[in-house]
Amino acid sequence: MSKKQMHLAAFMNAGPQGTVGWRHPDAGDGFLTAAHYTHIAKVLEDACFDMAFVPDALAVPRSLGDSFDPAIRYGSGSPRLDPMTVLSVMSAVTTHLGVAGTMSTGYNEPYNVARQFGTLDHLSGGRAGWNIVTSFQDAEAQNFNQEKLPGREERYARAEEHLEVTTRLWDSWGDDTLVRDKESGVFGRPETVEAIDHKGEYFQVQGPLGVPRTPQGYPVLIQAGASPSGRDFASRWADVVFCSHESLESGIAFYADMKKRAAEHGRDPEQLLILPAATTVVGKDVRDAMAKHESFFELVDPMAGLSRLAYHVNVDLTQYDLDGPLPSLEVVGVEGHYREVVEFAEREKLSVREIGRWYGARTEGNMIGSASDIADTMEQWMAAGAADGFMIQASHVPAAFEDFANEVVPELQRRGIFRTAYEGTTLRENLGLNRPERGEWRNRAASALTAKAAAKDGE
Ligand SMILES: Cc1cc2nc3c(=O)[nH]c(=O)nc-3n(C[C@H](O)[C@H](O)[C@H](O)COP(=O)(O)O)c2cc1C
Repeated sequence: MSKKQMHLAAFMNAGPQGTVGWRHPDAGDGFLTAAHYTHIAKVLEDACFDMAFVPDALAVPRSLGDSFDPAIRYGSGSPRLDPMTVLSVMSAVTTHLGVAGTMSTGYNEPYNVARQFGTLDHLSGGRAGWNIVTSFQDAEAQNFNQEKLPGREERYARAEEHLEVTTRLWDSWGDDTLVRDKESGVFGRPETVEAIDHKGEYFQVQGPLGVPRTPQGYPVLIQAGASPSGRDFASRWADVVFCSHESLESGIAFYADMKKRAAEHGRDPEQLLILPAATTVVGKDVRDAMAKHESFFELVDPMAGLSRLAYHVNVDLTQYDLDGPLPSLEVVGVEGHYREVVEFAEREKLSVREIGRWYGARTEGNMIGSASDIADTMEQWMAAGAADGFMIQASHVPAAFEDFANEVVPELQRRGIFRTAYEGTTLRENLGLNRPERGEWRNRAASALTAKAAAKDGE
């Protein structure tokens, strides 16, 4: 029997990478140039990666002392170029690499999202992916007419309606609408196009979309919810879930929970892929890789790390004693990152300041060692039921992606767990995901309505 195949995504900021990645001696400084992104796109495609993923946030983070000072001073979370433009550039120099990016349901209208990702899906020949986020910082809200971010439940309620509208817009044209018959003069068949006439709590959208149904039907839908409402939303709508874990045990529990939730929503659990984040540091052997990893710590100012954490959890950590333990936080931005920090800080008995140093050098899911050690860990996660593949976070770019592509990928290929050539041309084909039929939105939204009705009955 052939071995289960791994999928790989590459986490790549449209700006400096990580908190100290830009300081690394081997880091390039071209993140404001197209050449930087086209080079990385080619490296990833030569290595047969499923997709490049560009995260995003709609603000210069205000982390410590409610100030943007650390974001600028340390290059932590800023600058960020617009992902759609970066992805367009990357898709233009590749033919198989998926191009996925973040867009917030909180601060973008469904029509705009549907049109932008619809366009990217056409122009890339079916390689677009949308990472659906609800945003997690007040600083983002403050750029869009609000003082504070709405609560999580409200953000996910808006996201639910957003997805219903966006997917309906993608479905508003038939796959066979365009005729383009020069002889008869018939361009398209209007009888196959439907307005959506949506009037909901958050959005009023008439439709149809100004973009025909796309090669993938819907771009690949990605999500990274970690809270119960985030998981519920992701298991309902997403094709791919990104996550980060501090231990294999929490990875196994998350994977099982998400697959179970997908089945409960009437979905085939194999059509929901779980990709934990992995930051790989490749060396000749463990000692060499550890030395590389430790050289990172020397570059980290603890306050830079703390500002990164403060930005992720949306809490000003300067209010706490820096030499004491981190108090338990009730409402946090990125729940997954917070849980990881708590798990690690309790185990290692770290003060807030020490957490800062660790968090600055840390990137999610460290895998440190030789190519063969890293492949072993990846195989272990796949076999244990914690991953369908990984989202590779480069500590610094482009060098860390090049190391992974040149050293780890051949090892994975040698073991027969990663492709040596792309299976298909669209991102869905390469991920082994079905193309949604027109009207698929009903299955996912209908299950949302059923769940809402059941929750009401249980009240
Ligand atoms: C690997 C990974 C990548 C993420 N990328 C983004 C991003 O680009 N933009 C963003 O606002 N949130 C991002 N998030 C945060 C998630 O969208 C989500 O808000 C978070 O995991 C908290 O889950 P919750 O919304 O259920 O509380 C990311 C999370 C993870 C684990």
